Amino acid sequence: MADTFSFSLDGATVSVTCDPKAPALEVLREQLGVVGVKAGCSPQGMCGCCTVLVDGKPRLTCTLPTKSLAGKTVTTLASVSDEARLRLAGAFATTHAAQCGYCTPAIVLSASTLLALGRAPTDDEVHRALAPHTCRCTGYTSIKAAIGLACAPGLAPFEAPDNASAEVILGLRPFVDDLHRPGTLHAAVVLAPVSHGTLLSIDAAQAQGMPGNVRVIQLKADGQPVRYAGELLAAVVADTRSLARAAAAAVRCDVEATPAPTAVPLARAVRREGTVEPALSQARYRAELEISLAATDAVPLEPESALALPEGGGLLVYSSGHDARGLAERLGAELGVPVRVVLLPSGGSYGARAVAVAEAVAAKLSLTTGSPVSLALEHEEGTRLRARRAASVVTGAAACDEDGRLLAARVNVRFAGGATAHEAERMLARAIDGCSYHLPNLEIIAELHQGPGSPTGPLRGAGPLPVAVVIEALLDQLASAAGVDPFRIRALNALPELEPLLSSMHSASARSAGPLGAALFRTAGGDGAEVVLTVTAPDEVEVQCNVPELGQGRDRQLVEALVRATGLPEETFVVAWADSSVVAAGADGPVDVAAFQAGSALAAAGGSLRALVGRRFVGRAGQAPAELAGCLVRLGDDGGVAAVEVFVAAGEQDPATARSLAEGGAAMGLGIALAEEVPDRDGAPESRFRYLGTLKSKLTPRIVATPLEVGGSARGGAEAATVAAAAATFAAVRAFEGAASDRLPAKASRAAASVGVRIRGSVPASG
Ligand code: FES
Ligand code: FES
Repeated sequence: MADTFSFSLDGATVSVTCDPKAPALEVLREQLGVVGVKAGCSPQGMCGCCTVLVDGKPRLTCTLPTKSLAGKTVTTLASVSDEARLRLAGAFATTHAAQCGYCTPAIVLSASTLLALGRAPTDDEVHRALAPHTCRCTGYTSIKAAIGLACAPGLAPFEAPDNASAEVILGLRPFVDDLHRPGTLHAAVVLAPVSHGTLLSIDAAQAQGMPGNVRVIQLKADGQPVRYAGELLAAVVADTRSLARAAAAAVRCDVEATPAPTAVPLARAVRREGTVEPALSQARYRAELEISLAATDAVPLEPESALALPEGGGLLVYSSGHDARGLAERLGAELGVPVRVVLLPSGGSYGARAVAVAEAVAAKLSLTTGSPVSLALEHEEGTRLRARRAASVVTGAAACDEDGRLLAARVNVRFAGGATAHEAERMLARAIDGCSYHLPNLEIIAELHQGPGSPTGPLRGAGPLPVAVVIEALLDQLASAAGVDPFRIRALNALPELEPLLSSMHSASARSAGPLGAALFRTAGGDGAEVVLTVTAPDEVEVQCNVPELGQGRDRQLVEALVRATGLPEETFVVAWADSSVVAAGADGPVDVAAFQAGSALAAAGGSLRALVGRRFVGRAGQAPAELAGCLVRLGDDGGVAAVEVFVAAGEQDPATARSLAEGGAAMGLGIALAEEVPDRDGAPESRFRYLGTLKSKLTPRIVATPLEVGGSARGGAEAATVAAAAATFAAVRAFEGAASDRLPAKASRAAASVGVRIRGSVPASG
């Protein structure tokens, strides 16, 4: 039964009428339009994105019943003083503590309580303030540095942030689910309850009789196979999100369970150089091993969301996916109408948003109803529907001579691609590229099998990571067998461009003692980045780019390159949402190179911007320089992670950008090696946030990232840092626990315990 509650919200008295138990987050966002408060893992209370201050104390609103706000004072970042907001935004911008920015406003709000102390907070106070929060992009080091900077006594030791950064940090830049259009209907999804079976029927009678103008649309036909737990079966639209979700819960799906299908080979990639077998069998020293890697989820904090609305004779779809043009073409072909896609920055992706399930559902429902339709998947739904990194089993053998010079290596990696493997060929091509050492005789075979399980895709590191992990472990085994220093064996065999990183790692390794893991990684850069400049006013240039903003600081890189190319002030450039009618198909190349070219074309046109209003200038980048990273992970005497240092090629990137990407990438690698996993529970994926192994701030070690001049144009990158850190962490675990450690994540290790992994019953977890 609904009731009415009054409370103070950012200085104004508000009244709401709702179910007393309705989560405060729902009421704040949907009734009061407070979209700066984010719904990350809602309603699980695990990520901190929904934090507000209630009577000055941080509270998670996704688990807080609205009735408990009655008579209280609720503060969001919007009513923190301008001085405090500016100080915090400046500090977060200075340390690059916001990447995708989805977690950031809530963290800044919690940090404001520390700023209010009027003194430098203790480490313990910082840990307590950050305890509810999760950040998937940064690795927390830059966030803690930002808090320290903001709370340092005296004048602020940083400059005012630029407008774009301030908008991200203070939560003023919208995400897809923050967009509102009049007359919008809300959608919810109905997912398969079993792992394998045949859909017999869907009974929507009860749901259709519920309040809110409920309509149920069946998306999978009766008689069709159900291929994984959580597969999309039907969708519901209703007047509000909560009514849609309630109706979706009332839809009954009759699925006849069937045995799991046998996995069958789907795709294969082979790399062969020289003749491996004779070299392996004749070598003085030989090492072999087999390692398994669990399936991992990207765990982006922003829920998969989409808004679709009629436009002309077709549809306009707002997405936070990867590829505006590609998605527009795909949806247009599926639905038979013209579709335009506008891409907003995503709240973390790491490659996971390529599948665009929410967009497809919202578009279909909008076309069916003729109304705008908004869909935001709950976090568990997203975990079941989006692609994940495939589990894999990788076997390797390698051989060296008495000096430690590598003679041959053979690696076989078999990926469990699940029911649907997205971009399998691309992932396999990247897997066979995952060796960063010179080998005269090398064979890498990567196979992907289709079978039971959730969809998989080319997430950050998905292909090359298992190969790199096994090769680094083989190097350590060979070094030990041949009595060669682990740095010596790497120095003898690393690709030449990695040498500067390795020598810095070697120097750093001498600073302390203890079990050590070291790893190098080189990955080919992406290509196809395109930047389109449109002169929209005498003092304004709109910037669009086909590389999505996925939390990698794209917008900052674009503007920095444009200022360099044109000499125009940075406020001239307004980075706009990419529109499929303007940008090329999605790519992953270097945006700064494309931006510099577009800026140079603009500068070459000469004259004032006034004379160029309406003109367009396009810049395209070819193959990007390689990404290089090296990582050292040192364990303490107790086997806990004591230090993580990551070294990356600086390239032409802003060093602060390179550093922040490397820190965040290394944190993800640490998580993959020690904690991250999508556990299986009775044949279905365990999709609750707390079981996915995301690292929390308190126990994540400080990560020191160092960009280095390496000559040439190679650069650093989050993916290279992720792979190097995962391999180095696993190597450190083996150095402490012994070679019996043969599984990632190494949840039973002391290193895992030191970052908060606990083994509970049959489902290991962290946090
Ligand atoms: S803790 Fe509330 S949305 Fe995650
Ligand atoms: S910046 Fe924290 S989740 Fe992206």
